Amino acid sequence: MSRRIIPVADIRTLPPKPAAGPARTPSGAVFDALARPLRDLRISVTDRCNFRCVYCMPRSVFDKNYPFLPHSALLSLEEIERLARLFVALGVTKIRLTGGEPLLRKNIEFLIERLAALRTPSGEPLDLTLTTNGSLLARKARALRDAGLTRVTVSLDALDDALFRRMNDADFAVADVLDGIAAAHAVGLAPLKVNMVVKRGTNDGEIVPLARHFRGTGVALRFIEYMDVGTSNGWNMTEVLPSAEVVARIAEHWPLVPLEAHSAAETAQRWGYADGAGEIGAISSVTRAFCGDCTRARLSTEGKLYLCLFASMGYDLRALVRNGATDAELTGAIAQVWEGRADRYSQLRGSAQAPASADERRIEMSYIGG
Ligand code: GTP
Ligand code: 5AD
Ligand code: SF4
Ligand code: SF4
Repeated sequence: MSRRIIPVADIRTLPPKPAAGPARTPSGAVFDALARPLRDLRISVTDRCNFRCVYCMPRSVFDKNYPFLPHSALLSLEEIERLARLFVALGVTKIRLTGGEPLLRKNIEFLIERLAALRTPSGEPLDLTLTTNGSLLARKARALRDAGLTRVTVSLDALDDALFRRMNDADFAVADVLDGIAAAHAVGLAPLKVNMVVKRGTNDGEIVPLARHFRGTGVALRFIEYMDVGTSNGWNMTEVLPSAEVVARIAEHWPLVPLEAHSAAETAQRWGYADGAGEIGAISSVTRAFCGDCTRARLSTEGKLYLCLFASMGYDLRALVRNGATDAELTGAIAQVWEGRADRYSQLRGSAQAPASADERRIEMSYIGG
């Protein structure tokens, strides 16, 4: 395995861009410079994680000296709820809680309860979900469901226990995660999705075993191309296994038929097993960029608004919140930032137009969330 580690430039400490715009009452919809609406909000509730996945938080960087955010820097759960409410007024219909590992955040159930009570301008509840590594899910699934979470996505990169332990680099057993998935299923968190990041030469031998394991269980297994997100994972194109190859490998065992996308903004291309044993998904952020329909905003643990997973700068909403901005002022700021958005990193990757953030200053996935 290649472990070329590039020192992380701690861009969290760069001065954030101030976010301020004219005060405005929620309008119900806001579009960016490429006419993409604001629909999804991914909220990172902690930058900490109990795993040290080699492609995300390599232990050589995220060691005991790593400066995780102090508690005072985090948005409080009340601050998150307030911002989420304003985002919903601007058109957000789907909220995903991420991390780090979101189940490590104290009182996450309280936040879920609050978010579950939000309604879109037309009175609909949100699509409220969470991405977790599954290690605490067996213990927490019921409480999460009771708080109002509707569904959950679990990351799982291998079925083989030894390989799984190597990949999480924190000695977590795969059985813990499988128990978590079973618990989520048992309490009715659905649809249940499992995400596997595929690294060629590391875990591509697990594609077929994982497909076999989840076929016919109602779980949608999705394969994610290993991305050049952040700067600490030493990403290399040779370690990317194109989704087309993943799909071909599975189809050798079980014929697949393409399925319709649920929506244009969907990240995954869906495939169904021809024998009716469920579906898989392929998330091809490297070989088939989906920026054209990207409606995702990201709120970092400390309240910065990022317009792209590959951005190097965020807009400081926390400063506005803590300086006493009114709802209308905050809404105006969010709308103005979104209206200026032209990010489409994956589409431009490797081209002459690639933005400056293609340098060493991209945010880490553990800071902004998957
Ligand atoms: P649902 O299908 O609605 O559950 O959500 P989703 O498709 O956004 O999936 P999820 O949140 O599970 O994201 C899966 C993976 O896709 C993430 O872990 C990322 O690796 C990748 N991904 C998600 N959103 C983006 C994005 O905006 N840009 C890029 N490049 N990759 C993304
Ligand atoms: N490439 C692709 N996906 C990644 N994730 C984290 N780092 C990467 C990367 N470099 C995914 C994890 C998890 C989510 C939190 O983000 O698999 O599903
Ligand atoms: Fe933690 Fe998820 Fe990153 Fe792994 S991918 S280190 S589980 S945040
Ligand atoms: Fe959206 Fe940026 Fe991902 Fe493209 S690279 S899909 S713009 S987050």
